[in-house]
Amino acid sequence: MSLRRGVRALALSSVLATGAWSVAADEGAMAYRQKVMDAVGGHMQAMVAIAKQEVAHGDHLKVLAANMAGLATIVPDVFPAGSGGGDSHALPAIWEQPDAFQERLDAFVAAATKLDGVVASGDMSQFGAALGGLGQACKGCHDDFKAE
Ligand code: HEC
Repeated sequence: MSLRRGVRALALSSVLATGAWSVAADEGAMAYRQKVMDAVGGHMQAMVAIAKQEVAHGDHLKVLAANMAGLATIVPDVFPAGSGGGDSHALPAIWEQPDAFQERLDAFVAAATKLDGVVASGDMSQFGAALGGLGQACKGCHDDFKAE
């Protein structure tokens, strides 16, 4: 038995032994998705901190909102089939109900684009509502498609 075959047999036997069948088929795609989502989460937390006046960086909102709108356009690419399972919190419903999932992706792009437009316009009377709408778009998808 070659070394490589031996390693493969060992890996397979440990999967069999632990019953760990739900290993993500595409770990790279899963890890990449989680990095992109961390960026989305970081932007959201930064904007919430500014909205709560925990920091006086209102001048950062334009960059943060524009980046969020940009991130929303790449999020649809980060859910390839076979990237669930393992350490992922992505639920199988993502791939079982693609139309419902697509609606959530579209709602996210719409809410992020709206927020970006509000911030760019400088009419901050709409900011709270637009940020809240974006938060609802996150929650709407997480409720149905992300494990706790
Ligand atoms: C269309 C669905 C969808 C939308 C919209 C969405 N998320 Fe997620 N998010 C997910 C899924 C699914 C995961 C789990 C990814 C995984 O573990 O593979 C996730 C994971 C995360 C994570 C954890 C990342 C990690 O390292 O595991 C954060 C933080 C996050 N989302 C924040 C947000 C915020 C903030 C928004 C809105 C501004 C948002 N998400 C919008 C589906 C979505």
